[in-house]
Amino acid sequence: MLRRLTRREGLAMAGAGLLAGGAAPDHAPLDVLARRKGLRFGTALGAEGLADRGYLALVARECGALVAENEHKLYALKPGAPDEWRWAGADRIAAFAADRGMFLRGHTLLWNRDEFAPDWLKRQGLGSQAEGERWLTAHVRTVIGRYPQIRSWDVVNETIDPATGAMRDTVFTRAMGADAVEIAFRAAHEAAPQARLAYNDYMGWGPSDAKHRAGVLRLLERLKARGVPIHTFGVQGHIPNGDAGNVVVFSQADQREWRAFVDEVRGLGLDLVITQLDVNDTVLPADPTRRDAIAAGLVRDFLDLMLDYRELKQVLVWGLSDRHSWLQTWWPRPDRLPKRPTPYDAELRPKAMRAAIADALRGAPERTPWT
Ligand code: XIL
Repeated sequence: MLRRLTRREGLAMAGAGLLAGGAAPDHAPLDVLARRKGLRFGTALGAEGLADRGYLALVARECGALVAENEHKLYALKPGAPDEWRWAGADRIAAFAADRGMFLRGHTLLWNRDEFAPDWLKRQGLGSQAEGERWLTAHVRTVIGRYPQIRSWDVVNETIDPATGAMRDTVFTRAMGADAVEIAFRAAHEAAPQARLAYNDYMGWGPSDAKHRAGVLRLLERLKARGVPIHTFGVQGHIPNGDAGNVVVFSQADQREWRAFVDEVRGLGLDLVITQLDVNDTVLPADPTRRDAIAAGLVRDFLDLMLDYRELKQVLVWGLSDRHSWLQTWWPRPDRLPKRPTPYDAELRPKAMRAAIADALRGAPERTPWT
C-alpha cells in the first residue's frame, strides 16, 4: 500500500513544479539564495563530473563552493608509490574553482581508515612515532602548500569507529597512536594559519549512532582541551547515514538527540559545515516521484534543523546530479533501479530535493559569513 504524501513532501513537489498547478519554481541559483543568509552552497566534483560539460555548466550556475570528491585523498595523490605525486586531477579542480571565484574546500589530509590507505603504505607502515610524525607533517605541508587558495580543510576524516566510539586502529595510529589526529591539525595550522580546519565525520542521528556521536564528541572535546587548532565540525550529511542504513524518517525523538549533539559541538566554539549532503535511497519506494518527495522531505527537515544554527556556514552536496553520485555504485538498489540521491536527476532536471534546499535556504536565519 502506498502511503499518502505528507504535507511537507507535497510542498517539496509543488516547489519543484512537479504538481499540476504547483508554484512556479524559483530559479535563483542555490548559492545566491545561500549568500543572502551569509552561507555558501556547493558540491563535490570528481573526475567524471569534470569531463561532463553540461554538468560543469550546472555546477557553475548553482554553486559558490567546491570540493574535490577524491583528488586530494592520499590514495589519489600517491596511489602506487611513496615518492610519486599525482596532482593533475586536483589541479584541474582547483583551476575550475579559481576561474569562477568559487570557495574551494580541501578533503582530506588524514582519512584515518585503512580501507582508504594505499596498499604500499599499509605494506611498509610508518615506523616509529617520530618517523610517522615526520611523514604526516611533510605530507600535510606538501598538499596544503600546493593549494594556498583552499581556506577550509577537512584535516581529519572519519577517525571514530562507529561500533565502539573509539579511535580507529590504522596504519597511522599504529605509528603515532591517537596523536596522529593532533599532529595533522598542528601541521595544517602551521602550513595555513588562515585556513579553517575541520574534523569531518558521518555520524547519523538515529539511536544506533549514539556511540558514534559520543565518540566524536569526546574527540572534539579532547582536541579543544589540548589547544589543538580546530575551527570547524564537518557534518557529512549522508542521509540515511550512519551504519544502520534504513533510517527513512527524521523523527521528533531523533531531532532532539541530534540537536543535543550539535549543541554540544557548538558549545566547543566550532563552526559547522554540511560537507557531503545526499540521500541514500536504497530502501525508498521504486516510484521516482514518491522517492524524490520522501528524499526531499528528509533533506528539508535536516536542513531546517541545521540552518537554525548560525554557526552553519556552508552546505555542500556530494554531487549535484544523479548522473555523478557515488551511491550509484557503492550501494546499488536491490531492484537495480538507478538511484536518485542528489538535487538534479540524470538528465540534469531539478528534482524535489532542489526545491527543498532552495526553500530551506530561503527560510534560514541570517548569519555572519565566513570571509
Ligand atoms: C567517496 C567518493 O564519492 C567515491 O568516489 C570514492 O570511491 C570513495 O569515497 N565519506 C567521505 C568521502 O568522506 O570521501 C566519500 O567519498 C564518501 C563518504
